[in-house]
Amino acid sequence: MPAPATLPDKPHQRLPGEAYTSGHWLEREHKELFSRTWAFAGVLTDFPEAGDFRTVQAGTHALIVIKGSDGELRGFHNICRHRGTELLEGCGNAGKTIMCPYHNWVYNLDGRLRGVPAQRECFPDLDKKSTTLFGAAVGVFRNLVFVHPDSEPEESFEAWVSDLESVAWPHDLSSSDLEENPDDIVYEINCNWKVFAENALDGYHLAYLHKETLGGPLHDKNIWETFGRHMVWWSTEREGVKHRIPQFVENAAKGSGTKTVNGATKPGYGGVYMLFPTTLLTPNPWGFSISTMEPLNANTTLLRVRNWAPKGWMSYTYRAKDIPGYDADSGRIKSSHWTKHPLDTGDFQTEDIWVCEKMQRALRSPMHQVGRLAHGSGGEAALDFFQQCMLEFVPKST
Ligand code: FES
Ligand SMILES: [Fe+2]
Repeated sequence: MPAPATLPDKPHQRLPGEAYTSGHWLEREHKELFSRTWAFAGVLTDFPEAGDFRTVQAGTHALIVIKGSDGELRGFHNICRHRGTELLEGCGNAGKTIMCPYHNWVYNLDGRLRGVPAQRECFPDLDKKSTTLFGAAVGVFRNLVFVHPDSEPEESFEAWVSDLESVAWPHDLSSSDLEENPDDIVYEINCNWKVFAENALDGYHLAYLHKETLGGPLHDKNIWETFGRHMVWWSTEREGVKHRIPQFVENAAKGSGTKTVNGATKPGYGGVYMLFPTTLLTPNPWGFSISTMEPLNANTTLLRVRNWAPKGWMSYTYRAKDIPGYDADSGRIKSSHWTKHPLDTGDFQTEDIWVCEKMQRALRSPMHQVGRLAHGSGGEAALDFFQQCMLEFVPKST
């Protein structure tokens, strides 16, 4: 399945309104998109020991990535072969085997069925050898682990990664200089996942919605470049960036180097990597964030964010409870728990969520329509490109 060639000169809205509001459209995405694409599962350092696992929700697919006793990372569907119970929860170490909590069927870490309680009496004709966990494919790129619900994906991992191999990467996530924020940061956002994705691709809003937080950059200082269906964003203007810890911004300016793309000078690595369809990587001078979008329904998205920063830095900043909208009962961040206006929080993510939820509410009006999109790779051309990629998987006509 070929990706569109590049960003369009004259971008326009391609997806119909129902793509952002309809449960039927989301069902189609589950079948036609999330079942056929790669989802972020974790980083290699999540799996130091045999038995280390992470569960992943890829659309409606419940998946596991787990390290075998032979050191191999494998993917499985998180489904017991007896009556289909979910086997593992969250992340952790499963031990030497995976045991289903319901009737204690036991699987080897390579997915083979190993033990069945009272097998002789209850399952006299069960062939254990041919009963294994359903497989899922696993791929690793720059210490990032991805999983695909199909054990033999129509698009190989190498094809999906495409020429991202050639893109500079600022941080090595296996580095012992970085430590991860121990908090689970999960936003529950009242918008369709594509509204959030398109906001992340929108270079035109940065100087306006975020003028008090990011302080720009202007659209002509933004560059989105395409790599297969993925996109990487650079800003050629770093000076305007205001941040909670400006000293790291300075370090970045020193450390990143520059390169020239389309005649413009930009930092040596990107500011946002959009890995189609649901993974957003945001390296920054001081660390690295990985966000994944998980649709709960057509109008609600879970955004899971993992952050890494230089050792010692996380301990005094960016805890989940300090993020505007933190709900101690659910542990999630929600607009219903905001205590001040989003534009007064000084937090650009909160500003984005505010606008995404406003977009979603407006989408319900029969009068809603999308007007012109800003030209240019630093305008809104990346939205059109993303929508073209979406339509390849979930076409309008059916
Ligand atoms: S459903 Fe897993 S052992 Fe019965
Ligand atoms: Fe934004």
